[in-house]
Amino acid sequence: MSRRRSGGCSGASVRAAFVILTVALSTVLGTCSVDDISSSNELFASSSSSSPTASSRPARSEQLLLVSSSSLTTERSRRTPLKMSVEQELDAARAAIQRAARRRRRRRRVVDPAGRGSGNVTTADEWFEAGVDHALVASVYRNPAAFHRSYREMERRFKVYVYEEGEPPILHAGPCKDIYTIEGRFIEQLELMAPPPPAGGGGGARTSDPARAHAFFLPFSVSKMVQFAYRPDTYDKTPLRAIVADYVRVVASRHPYWNRSAGADHFMLSCHDWGPEASRGHPELHANGIRALCNANTSEGFRPGQDVSVPEINLYTGDMPRQLLAPPAPPLASRPFLAFFAGGRHGHVRDLLLRRWKGHDPDVFPVYEHEHEHSHGRRQQDGAPLDYYWYMRRARFCLCPSGYEVASPRVVEAIHAECVPVILSDGYALPFADVLRWEAFSVAVPVADIPRLREVLERIPAPEVERLQRGVRLVKRHFMLHQPPERLDMFNMILHSVWLRRLNLRLNR
Ligand SMILES: *[C@@H]1O[C@H](CO)[C@@H](O)[C@H](O)[C@H]1NC(C)=O
Ligand SMILES: *[C@@H]1O[C@H](CO)[C@@H](O)[C@H](O)[C@H]1NC(C)=O
Ligand SMILES: *[C@@H]1O[C@H](CO)[C@@H](O)[C@H](O)[C@H]1NC(C)=O
Repeated sequence: MSRRRSGGCSGASVRAAFVILTVALSTVLGTCSVDDISSSNELFASSSSSSPTASSRPARSEQLLLVSSSSLTTERSRRTPLKMSVEQELDAARAAIQRAARRRRRRRRVVDPAGRGSGNVTTADEWFEAGVDHALVASVYRNPAAFHRSYREMERRFKVYVYEEGEPPILHAGPCKDIYTIEGRFIEQLELMAPPPPAGGGGGARTSDPARAHAFFLPFSVSKMVQFAYRPDTYDKTPLRAIVADYVRVVASRHPYWNRSAGADHFMLSCHDWGPEASRGHPELHANGIRALCNANTSEGFRPGQDVSVPEINLYTGDMPRQLLAPPAPPLASRPFLAFFAGGRHGHVRDLLLRRWKGHDPDVFPVYEHEHEHSHGRRQQDGAPLDYYWYMRRARFCLCPSGYEVASPRVVEAIHAECVPVILSDGYALPFADVLRWEAFSVAVPVADIPRLREVLERIPAPEVERLQRGVRLVKRHFMLHQPPERLDMFNMILHSVWLRRLNLRLNR
C-alpha cells in the first residue's frame, strides 16, 4: 500500500532524510516523568518475588550505571536511586518465572491425577479470565502460570528507552490507517507511554533514563521510508538500508548503549514487507538485534527465538472495525458457510487457492478473487469492503493464505470475527507462539494440501470446531488494539515478546 503511495518521492527527499538523520536533532517527545520504580512495585506488592539471586550476585552496576552525556539523563539518574542493576532485575525476573513454571509442573503431576484440578484454579487462570474453563486455558497457553508470572514481571520491571534522535515522518511516526498500521501504532503508543501505568495495568514501559532500560527501541518506520525515500518501481532498497545504517551510526556514536551490547538489547519493529531487508542496513542490527516483524518468514532468515513475529492488522479508518467486534459474533450454529476467502491473486499460495476453489461452491465454501468481487466494488463508509466482514461472521473457518509475503491481516480479522483461522502458508512463524498454542485456536493446512482443503475442514468433528472457536474467543484480547493500551492487548503482547527475547527465556512446556 505504501509502495503505491510512494509516487513523487525523489532523490531530493532521500537526501533530505539523510540530512535529518545526520544532524540528528533531538525531538521533544511528550513529557516523560521520572521513573518511579517504587510506585510500580506497590501496584504489584502482593506478587512480591524477592529473588535470592538478586542479592547474592556481585553488583555489575559500575558498567550499567554508565550515564549518557545528555544532561537530561544525568539529572534523572541522580534523582532515581538504583536498587538493583538492570541485569540483577532481569535475573530476579527469570528466577520468578522459572519458579512459577516449576510450580505449574508439580501441580500437574500431583493435583490432576487426583482429580482435584478442576474446581480450584490457579491464580494465573483466575487472572486470565474469571470462570474460564481450566482445560481450555491449559490447552491454549503453553504454560499459563509461567506466562502469568512473566507478564507480571514485565509490567513491574520492563523499561524501554526510545532513542529521541531523528524527526518525523520517518522517525517517531508511522502509518496509522493501512495494512502496516501497527508500525505507527506501536511507535505512538510506546512514545506516549509515560509512567506511572494507568489503572488496570498496561502502560508504563517507557523510561527516559537509558541507564534503567532493559531494552532500547529504534523508532523508525520502514513503511514511511518506503513512502518518502524509495523510488517507485525501482525495487531498489538501498535507501532503506542506508537510513537504517545512518540511524544506528548516529545513536551508537552519541550513546554508549549500542556498542555495549553490539545491538543485542536493541529492537526495531516493522510491518512492511521490506522490514527484513531494511534491517540488513546495519550488520550488527541484522545479526544481534531483536527484529519485530510482520514478515516473519523463516525461509528468509526470520529467527523465532531471537526475532518477534508481529500480527498484521489493517485499520481502514485508524480504528478497529466495529462490524467485526459488535454485536457479539454469531455462534457456530448461525454460521452457514464452512469457509470463506476473498482477496487478490498475490503470490503462489493465493494462485493455488483460487485456481482450485474459486467459484466452486458459493453457498458453502465461498472463495472470491479480489476483495470486492462479491460486493461489486462497493465499499462501506469506512472504506472496508461491503460484505467482507459479513462473510467472516457467518463462516466457521476463515482462510488466511499468505500473499506476496507470509503475514495476512485476515488472521486478526478472523479472530475478531470469532471465525477459526486456517493458516495457509509455508515458513510463517506465527505471532505470540512462545505463549500461545496456535493449534488450539486455528488450523494449519500445508500449502501442498490446498487441493484437499475442503475435505480437510469437513473432516474436523463439530465438537473440535466448537473447541477451536472457544480458543479463538479466549485469545481475542491478545489481538485487540486499544488506545491507550490495555493489559494483555496486542501492544502489550508485542512488548511481552520483546521482554521474553531480552530475558532469553522459553515458556514452552
Ligand atoms: C483452593 O481452594 C481453597 C479453599 O477455598 C483455597 O484456600 C485455596 O487457596 C485454593 N487453591 C488455589 C490454588 O486456588
Ligand atoms: C561505538 O563504536 C563506533 C564504531 O567503532 C564508534 O564510531 C563510536 O564512536 C562508538 N560509540 C561510542 C559512544 O563510543
Ligand atoms: C518465504 O521466503 C521464501 C524464500 O525467500 C520464498 O520463496 C517464499 O515465497 C516466501 N514466502 C512467502 C509466502 O512469501
